[in-house]
Amino acid sequence: MAVWYLDPARAVQAYQRLIALPGAPRVRYAVKSNSHPTLLAALAAAGAHFAVVAEPELRALHAVGVPGQRIACVTPGPPAALLRACRAAGVALYAVDSAWEVRKLAALVPGAAACVYLALPPAGRLRYPVARVGALLDELDALLAAARDLSVRLVGVQIHVGSQCERPEAWGRGVELAAAAWERLRTGGWQPYLLNLGGGLPVPYRGPVAGPAAIARVVARIVAQRFPAAPQLWWEPGRYVAADAGLLIATVQRYTPGARPMVQLDVGRYRGLPEAARGIRYTYLADRQGPLARCIVVGPLGPDYDLLDRAAWLPPLAPGDRLWLPRAGAYTVAQTAYAVAADLPVVVGALPPVPQKAVAATVAGP
Ligand SMILES: Cc1ncc(COP(=O)(O)O)c(C=O)c1O
Repeated sequence: MAVWYLDPARAVQAYQRLIALPGAPRVRYAVKSNSHPTLLAALAAAGAHFAVVAEPELRALHAVGVPGQRIACVTPGPPAALLRACRAAGVALYAVDSAWEVRKLAALVPGAAACVYLALPPAGRLRYPVARVGALLDELDALLAAARDLSVRLVGVQIHVGSQCERPEAWGRGVELAAAAWERLRTGGWQPYLLNLGGGLPVPYRGPVAGPAAIARVVARIVAQRFPAAPQLWWEPGRYVAADAGLLIATVQRYTPGARPMVQLDVGRYRGLPEAARGIRYTYLADRQGPLARCIVVGPLGPDYDLLDRAAWLPPLAPGDRLWLPRAGAYTVAQTAYAVAADLPVVVGALPPVPQKAVAATVAGP
């Protein structure tokens, strides 16, 4: 039986690494990536701010006593019910990406402070089968005109490069676009001071990725070149804070040998690993010795519906063997971003050590 382990202290460490970076943006944790109450409580105690996109996230924060002043509602098309709940909770900041959304926000949260959410070309590893989110530069005039006579304060610009963005230059391009939008706000008579960089900080699932310090340097360089004065910078990572706090231990259900062996696990796209369908490839560590073969890893529903990985290098396995999946704390078992079966046992506390033999036995694929 698969078990998910969660160590909130690791999320706090990741958060603290971010806020300790010299000149780095302030940090708002994206609750959708892992809304487990112990993790939220630990981050709240460490002083974190929070970003929400849905009502259950707001309720989860309320349950651990986070005040609205430390919460931003960062989805640019929130349902009216979410806006009402945010207003009741005293949420500090909102996002808008069209004249329609400006009118909706002014009607439901009069006096709200909001960032203009800009559309960027997706640069993250995750594939979303959804329509564009955010405004194009060409659409800003209509948005600003709508805001002029309404009870909304446009206080800044928000971008999001895409989740698990492994290309630091994408932030540079996003900040350049944000600078152009910033100028439009200023010439429209607004006094923007917030630049929200969104999420997307990557984690090393299968290989090294750019760290937040390198990304912060790219951001700082473009900000210095393109902004008239230093904006107040925020980023809102979910994955970077939560991923390392989780470890999933799965059990092999079936092992089919062959030219490309197939390993079937008791976790899958609809059971703990929804992002496998969207481009995330985890590391699978096996506690056995043996010649490594390039394996296909699938979940309980099999290869047609539940493909997890086409190329995981694993030794020969047998039913009942366990596989360790590190960095499984974000967008897995306890999160609101995707619907997943929530019946996996959860153990909160220090993560059990991954057997050294397992670490040595598996080679990350390409
Ligand atoms: C607006 C916004 N902010 C933050 C995040 C969190 O992203 P991540 O978990 O990749 O850091 C997302 C996720 O897609 C998002 O859409």
